[in-house]
Amino acid sequence: MPTAITVAAGDITNFATPALVVNLFQGVAQPGGGTGAVDRALDGAISALIADGEIKGRLGEMTLLHTMGRIPAKRVVVAGLGQRADFDADAVRRVSGDVARFLRGKGVAEFATIAHGAGIGGLDAGETARAIAEGTLLGLYRFDAYRSGGNGAGADGGSDGNGGSDGDGGDIARVTIVERDAGSIDALSAGVSVGATLAAATQLARDLVNHPANIMTPTRMAEVAAEVAEAVGLELDIIDRERMQEHGMGALLGVAQGSAEPPKLIVLTYRGDPDDGANNLGLVGKGITFDTGGISLKPAANMEAMKGDMAGGAAVIAAMQAIGRLKPRINVAGLIAATENMPGGKAQRPGDVVRAMNGKTIEIINTDAEGRLVLADALCYARSLGITRLVDIATLTGAMVVTLGKACTGMMGNSAPLARSIGKAGDRSGERFWELPMLEDYRELIKSDVADMKNSGGRQAGSITAAMLLREFAADAAWAHLDIAGTATAAGNKGHLVKGATGAPTRTLAQLAMDLAGRG
Ligand code: BES
Ligand code: MN
Ligand code: ZN
Repeated sequence: MPTAITVAAGDITNFATPALVVNLFQGVAQPGGGTGAVDRALDGAISALIADGEIKGRLGEMTLLHTMGRIPAKRVVVAGLGQRADFDADAVRRVSGDVARFLRGKGVAEFATIAHGAGIGGLDAGETARAIAEGTLLGLYRFDAYRSGGNGAGADGGSDGNGGSDGDGGDIARVTIVERDAGSIDALSAGVSVGATLAAATQLARDLVNHPANIMTPTRMAEVAAEVAEAVGLELDIIDRERMQEHGMGALLGVAQGSAEPPKLIVLTYRGDPDDGANNLGLVGKGITFDTGGISLKPAANMEAMKGDMAGGAAVIAAMQAIGRLKPRINVAGLIAATENMPGGKAQRPGDVVRAMNGKTIEIINTDAEGRLVLADALCYARSLGITRLVDIATLTGAMVVTLGKACTGMMGNSAPLARSIGKAGDRSGERFWELPMLEDYRELIKSDVADMKNSGGRQAGSITAAMLLREFAADAAWAHLDIAGTATAAGNKGHLVKGATGAPTRTLAQLAMDLAGRG
């Protein structure tokens, strides 16, 4: 059962609920606003705990008080917001996720919260409400599709391995944001609506990634894309092996030939500005539903994580769902190059040369550098549709995890304005991007003796040489490449993230479409 988030006008000290969430900035001795009102109604219980040093207001801190009938709310949670100077919508997202998991662990079925930061914190009401909705819904996410014995009964979707604050509570049915100022209710409701849409899309991306590869095949991905297209009104085209051959997609087909699963190039189209074809955006996702490495076989340790090698494609399907619902005035195409990378008897070999749709040839040095191959043909196909602004999203290189870890996504490309737009969209969504240099010097590393390029540049600058190959296929489009190898999964529970798939960068992609539409 999904959690419903609603907004109510009123005085929180009179609001009946199993739990009421208020907040505190670090270093504040005498709380104001909603927290101050609750403190007074509780005869100074909160300020006494502050004076004792038990409540400090540190980000992530949570203090539970039982009200013993002094107000209609049964419990009060004081959530620390951290230093006021560091406070932003992402802190709200973080606190909302932590609080929701904390209260679920207490067995609470619903709770109410003040709009963190909307008054004193200086955030705009809509932005706050959106962050509360995203943080709450994403923080409560669990994946228990394969657990026997019913929802919630001791099971936490494998997402309780770290973070520690969540017990074995059931679902939280309802969260109410309670606001005194009747004039803010509309803005809060609008923010909740956008936040819930973006969170639902992110949850879809997480589900797609968390499902195992025996279920989440290229065919299944295409079925999910069809369900999304039907639900939000997108056009859908599934390009099968035969049509790939007609288009000369030799790079994609070369990867697919080692697998018994039929490959699919999934194309979702949203027409938000049908009269202006130049107003377009293409999102291209890597959809390797399992990456064994192929003949250049990966070691056994942690290979199971390669069920998530379609996270870029998952984010594209999910972002298209959100875009279909939010309806920005821009045309957006979502392309997902879905196939397995298997070492079957027909698999491609190191030394093979393949020809991509644009005629360029690639020498296969390492069959495990397969993502750039499937993306090469998907980028060519996007260009053939007339798309002039392209963003690809891929769990492309292990080197990216070494370079930036899990704190931000690596960004490369050929367009400073597009990179700036992605950075700005990330500022809104709380997802971070860091640009790596596309220096011409790196192009040398993928020079081949026999073909136009080779698919591996060796150990030096592994994430950038992968991007240098992709650049050959983006041609003259404005293009950005997002390497999410680190950010597609989380190691534990923290704020809106739970262990397993993150769904990144779904929310940024949808935000990007809205921002680019805003500029007309
Ligand atoms: N899917 C992997 C990259 C990856 C590794 C993603 C770890 C997430 C976590 C990709 O297809 C791959 O195998 N890349 C190779 C490229 C190399 C052979 C040039 C890599 O990074 O080792
Ligand atoms: Mn690989
Ligand atoms: Zn891969």
